[in-house]
Amino acid sequence: MSALDPGKAPLPDRVPVRADLAEVTPYGAPQLDVAVRLNTNETAEPPPPGYLAEVGRRIQGLELNRYPDRGVSELRRALGQRLGLPLAEGWAANGSNEILQQLLQAYGGPDRLALGVRPGYSMYPELCRTSLTPMVEVDLDAAFQLTPQVAAEAVAAHDPDLILVPTPNNPVGTPVAHEALRALHDGSRALVVVDEAYIEFADDHLAALPLLEELPRLVIVRTLSKAFRLAGLRLGYLLGPAWVVEDVQKVRLPYHLDAVKQIAGLVALEQEAAFLDHRRRIASERERVAAALAQRAGVEGFPSAANFVLVRTDVDDLFERLLAHGVLVRDFSTRPRLEGCVRVTIGTEAENDAFLAALDRVLA
Ligand SMILES: Cc1ncc(COP(=O)(O)O)c(C=O)c1O
Repeated sequence: MSALDPGKAPLPDRVPVRADLAEVTPYGAPQLDVAVRLNTNETAEPPPPGYLAEVGRRIQGLELNRYPDRGVSELRRALGQRLGLPLAEGWAANGSNEILQQLLQAYGGPDRLALGVRPGYSMYPELCRTSLTPMVEVDLDAAFQLTPQVAAEAVAAHDPDLILVPTPNNPVGTPVAHEALRALHDGSRALVVVDEAYIEFADDHLAALPLLEELPRLVIVRTLSKAFRLAGLRLGYLLGPAWVVEDVQKVRLPYHLDAVKQIAGLVALEQEAAFLDHRRRIASERERVAAALAQRAGVEGFPSAANFVLVRTDVDDLFERLLAHGVLVRDFSTRPRLEGCVRVTIGTEAENDAFLAALDRVLA
């Protein structure tokens, strides 16, 4: 302890964190050393052979003593070419979480309102909290769908500035139909953020890309963490109007995307076909797991368009009991509307079998 003036109260040794953060636990799923990890919706298969070697070859030419391209132009150009959009309508950051954070920093704040769905991606309330943005959540229907009617009523009731909608939804797995996205957009003055973290696992017609031309306040957020098998790289991107891309640059840190990552992302886009060739395997494994769940009494597996399945049972502490059998899933059992639920990532055939076997042992 130190005191500059002996007549005054001693100076404190620490500074209190912001009051609204005092009770907060840092967000994140447990990272445990377990044989079968099915809790964070990564792809079990590594990147295609040769990918890391090619990245290694290409980074030899980097001048790492210099800051990277602040505008991320080569990567954005490659993204645009792949998706038929100009560079000005794409942006990249360290994972789609950083993109979402930038959107909240640019369009949220204490005098703005964000609207989300429940159940929905659990980072949205966190990002709203840290950006001091008030948030309301509207309930999906009993089948965890966002119908156009619910969407229209929600925006009419709340008049949000920003709408956060995951499709397919995490953690329930349901996609959102274009009609519902139109209802959110056309019934509001809000920026509609369509979070397509898992879209590559869904049927192609569900992607919101064709809506970009039609709906001027629509933004699509995607990631290389899931179907692109690059969760360790931390790279996500945004597709949307040029004014959004300009606005997020007002809140990004200078040189936010390092030079090595820009190259690694470029090479991944060049090898897209090889990166995504596992999608059919995941879809067929997902259907196999769903069919196996349907055969078990007292178990409900919710239909999913993503690389995970939400599972409900009446077993108390299912999460802990699966873990005791060496299978790590994500526990949602204490979340509103998700009582008794865990979310299971679709892994390799052997991992999925391990999950089903562990479930059978718990149920026995
Ligand atoms: C719906 C949704 N959006 C965004 C993310 C963030 O992914 P990342 O930051 O790895 O791109 C996730 C990750 O689980 C997610 O489920």
